[in-house]
Amino acid sequence: MLRRTVLTAAAVLAVVLGVQSGAQAAPAPGAPGVGDSYYPDYGNGGYDVGHYDIRLRYHPETDRLTGTTTILATATQDLSAFNLDFALRTTSVRVDNRPATFAREGDHELVVTPARPLTAGRPTTIVVTYDDVPSSVVAAGYTAWNRTPDGALAVGQPEIAWWWYPSNDHPTDKATFDVSVLVPSGVEAISNGSPTRWAQPELRGWDRWSWRSAAPQATYLAFLAIGDFETYGDETPDGEPIITAYSTRLDPVSAAAARGSIERTSEIIDWQAGLFGPYPFGARGGVVTGPRELGFALETQTRPVYDGVAFARGSNNSLVVHELAHQWFGDSVSVRDWRDIWLNEGFASYAEWLWSEKEGEGTAAEIADYVHGVAWPADDPFWQVLPGDPGAARLFHPAVYDRGALTLHALREAVGDEDFFAVLRAWAQTHRYRDASTAEFVALAEEISGDDLGDLFRTWLYTPGRPELEVAARTVP
Ligand code: ARG
Ligand code: ZN
Repeated sequence: MLRRTVLTAAAVLAVVLGVQSGAQAAPAPGAPGVGDSYYPDYGNGGYDVGHYDIRLRYHPETDRLTGTTTILATATQDLSAFNLDFALRTTSVRVDNRPATFAREGDHELVVTPARPLTAGRPTTIVVTYDDVPSSVVAAGYTAWNRTPDGALAVGQPEIAWWWYPSNDHPTDKATFDVSVLVPSGVEAISNGSPTRWAQPELRGWDRWSWRSAAPQATYLAFLAIGDFETYGDETPDGEPIITAYSTRLDPVSAAAARGSIERTSEIIDWQAGLFGPYPFGARGGVVTGPRELGFALETQTRPVYDGVAFARGSNNSLVVHELAHQWFGDSVSVRDWRDIWLNEGFASYAEWLWSEKEGEGTAAEIADYVHGVAWPADDPFWQVLPGDPGAARLFHPAVYDRGALTLHALREAVGDEDFFAVLRAWAQTHRYRDASTAEFVALAEEISGDDLGDLFRTWLYTPGRPELEVAARTVP
């Protein structure tokens, strides 16, 4: 997402006349990645996406997905060619009203050569058509698209977009989204944000579902849940949609337990807004899949997706608190680099501890003391994984979650409640809808507290072994 996309009159004239402004290097191919520490070829160089318009037709019985995605982008350099991240069979690409040539490179790169080079600063329109069976497509060694008995789930981190729409697949390039899906009547197609069309009959036996994300959204946070769901619709006092959906494959008691947690979504968001500052989005909700269909929960923007198995033993409010806390920490403020993953998982985990305390269960200090002193003994290999640099293979290691949360608790003990919560709010506010790094978090905490916190973060994030933890009794303000 780029802030300035409006062309000056001079630039328009230059484009119309085919004039190159100034003496510049010849157009060159964009980089095949943004240089992420763990995933150097994720995302692409040379352009910035503002909007994705994704139009799909999906047939659950065959898993056939056909689609057209229109990408509104702006070149950030003169480009002779550029990459999209995509794994499905592509049937055509057009760039700025002309057919483009395209070629697959590796398992998720689509190299596009437009008929005419792209000019830095100029808005561009890319139209990609495709037709494939996503469950048959392997990339990065697996298939993130999840075919279920009654539909499919496109929910994953850090890879998922490749299996359903072409993109600049890195959290540093957010965009707005329209997602429109034609599915057999009776099947539901749920995505992020607000519904703009609800099961609109369009063909004999086919309905269209359409959804809009009006706030900037990272590519991995866009989702699709297709299948048989029981859905509930309500709205907030401000008129924002609250939409929740429960797979009909859940047994009735698990479905009831799931509802007992998910139907508290708006209440939990309001409580979090009191701690973290205003909810970054409007629409909200949740989707619960059949048991073990997904295997995890994900903070898909505005509407997290939960595996039904999470409610097999009753309500699971801390999971809902976790995924909703990600709306501030992960979704609105995203990682600059996947190495910074503790900025997502440590924060969402700490939110669970705050919820426990607020509910009159264990206090955050009691939980910190237990996690530090009992759950992970000093000689456990857990303490060798660094939350500030876990490695791609350990992106979701428990150390990222628990030691990440302990890092925040250590910060809170060091600076006190007033500064600690001021840091969390300033973090969410300063980097809202953007991305940020661990170094920026440390700098913000130092600025607000006036303390030198270098040793604290070095010890907790980047040093192997179990640090000492001072735990005092505290309450949520
Ligand atoms: N960000 C998710 C969460 O904290 C974790 C996703 C794990 N992904 C996976 N493929 N296992 O809830
Ligand atoms: Zn998480």
